[in-house]
Amino acid sequence: MIRPIFIACVLLVMLSDYSFAFQQDDSKNVPMEIMLTIGGDPTSEYCVTWRTRGGKSETVAEIVKSVPHPKLGDGAAVVKGSRVTQYGESKDRISHKVRFSGLQPGTHYSYRVGNGKVWSEWFQFTTAKKEKERFSFIYLGDVQNDIKSLGSRAIRQAYAHLAHEASFMLFAGDLVSSSTDAYWNEFFYAGGWILGSLPSVAVAGNHEYKNTSKGKVFSAHWSHLFGMPQNPPLQKYQDRFYWFDYQGVRFVALDSPEMNRENKDLQSILNWLEDALRNNPNQWSVVFTHYPVYSCSAGRNNDAYRNLLRPLLEKYGVDLVLQGHDHTYCRGFNEANITGDVKNPPLYVVSVAGPKMY
Ligand SMILES: [Fe+2]
Repeated sequence: MIRPIFIACVLLVMLSDYSFAFQQDDSKNVPMEIMLTIGGDPTSEYCVTWRTRGGKSETVAEIVKSVPHPKLGDGAAVVKGSRVTQYGESKDRISHKVRFSGLQPGTHYSYRVGNGKVWSEWFQFTTAKKEKERFSFIYLGDVQNDIKSLGSRAIRQAYAHLAHEASFMLFAGDLVSSSTDAYWNEFFYAGGWILGSLPSVAVAGNHEYKNTSKGKVFSAHWSHLFGMPQNPPLQKYQDRFYWFDYQGVRFVALDSPEMNRENKDLQSILNWLEDALRNNPNQWSVVFTHYPVYSCSAGRNNDAYRNLLRPLLEKYGVDLVLQGHDHTYCRGFNEANITGDVKNPPLYVVSVAGPKMY
């Protein structure tokens, strides 16, 4: 009887070793920091990104029309994505991205992400309708500082109030004070599963850039966290300039720090902006940009940026301009322009979501 007992002991040791190794590998593959974005036409195209601490197998998502049944995954489509390693300060930061396309308008979907073995929970979201229809969205100015401690309140309270009616969240820049692993970790802690459930769109602020000896350098994290509509003025501006149409409204996203500096691409960007506004088939238009056209904080008016944008905003009757940067709340028209050639002066709004107040 000695031999079978010995073999059984060896097997037990082997199994426990295997089980330990598998769990170790599992923990590296657990999806975290899951972010859903509008990835193109909001009736059919979305993008999801997430992070793992390691793992070498596939980057995949499953998506299916939501059904009120626990086996909702049985009919799910599998969509493969891409992964990127080593873009932040941490060695264990692997970013994953999957684009969903061909979805049906006005439809409730469930999705999960993982490596084919280790999965996230199922998230749910609803695509935009084809037709013009009233909708709401959450607009957040600079979250930026004390994100875990205090910015979390604004994100969570907004969601608690508006979860049943908001179609997406719009961030007007300076989501983090510095684009480092530590700040983005706080951002995802604050947003938690909301960021995987309600699609987001965002523009970069000045804090998404950092000053280096070679000048300002854009966030290494941004394009790994967001998968925005793919219609930038130049490919290198993917995820930073884009537009999309949501149920009768055209939204145009502008990376204002990129426009408000010496930039040989500026005319190309302005031409692209003018095309987006001129060729808008919708009744309404919204521009969102971090730097405000009109500041409501003393000494912070930016004439150069105002002179760049205002003529186009007024010429094409942009209805709403959503901004950040000034760490204040305010809204208003340029009353001097209500008469004359300008029939529809834009309503300018500045907002803030974090605790820093000017
Ligand atoms: Fe700012």
